[in-house]
Amino acid sequence: MTPRTTPRPTDGIDDLDDLESYDDLPERLIGYPAVFHALGIGSCAVRTVLDFGCGPGKVATRVVEASDARVVAVDIAPRALEIARERRPHPRIDYRPTDDGGLGFLAEGSVDAAMACFVFTTTGEIEALHDIAAETHRVLRPGGRFAVLDANPRTTGIRFSTFRSGEPGRVYTKGERRRSRLERPGGAAPLERVDHHWPCQTYLDVLGKAGFTDLDVHEPVLTHTSALLGSDPAEAGHPPFLVVSGVKR
Ligand SMILES: C[S@@+](CC[C@H](N)C(=O)[O-])C[C@H]1O[C@@H](n2cnc3c(N)ncnc32)[C@H](O)[C@@H]1O
Repeated sequence: MTPRTTPRPTDGIDDLDDLESYDDLPERLIGYPAVFHALGIGSCAVRTVLDFGCGPGKVATRVVEASDARVVAVDIAPRALEIARERRPHPRIDYRPTDDGGLGFLAEGSVDAAMACFVFTTTGEIEALHDIAAETHRVLRPGGRFAVLDANPRTTGIRFSTFRSGEPGRVYTKGERRRSRLERPGGAAPLERVDHHWPCQTYLDVLGKAGFTDLDVHEPVLTHTSALLGSDPAEAGHPPFLVVSGVKR
């Protein structure tokens, strides 16, 4: 499939160097484990994983640490791949630039599972989301699952332990730009970023249009096993992340 548009990087991905210093503890404790669980990472059926929008390679690295799988980690931003290759090289991770926004270097049905973590909200054009989903559907094998992880559009404005997505009290419309704040440890100034608001229904529509079935929405909250976020974290009562997944039949 040839993508209809070449996705354009948006504001949120200009600060990849700064992003390295963001403390992604909630993502590590709640978000990524939910994605790994949805995809069956660690099971013998998942040998090759596509990480679409891999950024500096943090998630790909967690996949190879948690399993024997091989990861094809792709990104549209050359700087992201530079950081990933320099700081997180691994013999089972193949960092690759997208090919005009597509994955022409991957054969149809060649990966067992795929994820896009914090990619949809960095993308301001709905067509680009459709292209990502369509290309992912093409390269997944039948029975393979695609999981998309993002800040939860239903909990914008809530101050979580290390981030706040959107302004308190504001209601955002589909695709609207929204200001987010990421905390950094050691007294460093917080990062102010701009991303895009996509309602949960948009994720379902995008995956459904690409042909994914058995769509599942998961909004994990903090459990007793993850008390590292302090005594009364917002993550215990409000789901900070949204994980939407579907299967290629
Ligand atoms: C916020 S970063 C997230 C990185 C990583 N997935 C993580 O969870 O740490 C979003 C990444 O998605 C990439 N991206 C955005 N749109 C893309 C597209 N259409 N194709 C490939 N990468 C894309 C950006 O370049 C950026 O590196």
